[in-house]
Amino acid sequence: MAHQKGYGRQLSAADIADGRHRDFVGGLWEDLGRLQFEFLCLRGLSPSHHLLDVGCGCLRGGVHFVRHLETGHYCGVDANASLIEAARHELGRAALLEKQAQLAISQNFDLGQFGRRFEYVLALSVFPHLVRDEICRCLVAVRRVLAPRGQFFATFFEAPPGGDRQSIVHQPGGIVTYHDRDPFHQSIDQMQALADAAQLSMTLIGDWNHPRDQKMLVFRRQE
Ligand SMILES: C[S@@+](CC[C@H](N)C(=O)[O-])C[C@H]1O[C@@H](n2cnc3c(N)ncnc32)[C@H](O)[C@@H]1O
Repeated sequence: MAHQKGYGRQLSAADIADGRHRDFVGGLWEDLGRLQFEFLCLRGLSPSHHLLDVGCGCLRGGVHFVRHLETGHYCGVDANASLIEAARHELGRAALLEKQAQLAISQNFDLGQFGRRFEYVLALSVFPHLVRDEICRCLVAVRRVLAPRGQFFATFFEAPPGGDRQSIVHQPGGIVTYHDRDPFHQSIDQMQALADAAQLSMTLIGDWNHPRDQKMLVFRRQE
């Protein structure tokens, strides 16, 4: 699976105690945590909503969401068990354990395990690490747990129309993306085909001030 290239590596207890998980998920801990939190708040996330954070990592955004949401309303899932351990470490550090965040390990988007529907679903910096089949599997799985008027926000690196078999240097940030290896880029056409296959509607939000040029998409259940 694509994530095993980088995110398959398990961090040690010492790595987590030293806070190395923060760099492992891409750094920019404060900036990207706050950016995703403020973005969803501007899009209407309120404490009573239920949020599913797909590829939650060690809760760079999650600590903000858990603090904001009512007890038990934040669910996070990640393929990397050590990052879920690091997530628990971060919740303890932020004195948020009593907010009862629901955290799970799954590599196959087993999202039904939370036993609820979500008004908001987020996949922040996750699609760049997935092959297209995995993105499609993720979309299908999210559709099953999305509340009727729910919204699934996801970021990706955008390639020109028709796809691009050359590498792309994204500015700001200088990240280089590829069509056939991690970090991946996708064209709007390619993302639209995946949304269609998953029976979701898709709208490009585009630029949202991401410091490394990841663009934002929103998916909804088709009427
Ligand atoms: C760049 S990190 C972003 C983490 C988090 N969203 C954040 O903003 O800090 C990408 C995350 O996606 C996770 N991931 C990759 N493939 C996955 C999969 N198939 N299912 C769940 N999580 C996955 C990785 O383990 C990693 O935690």
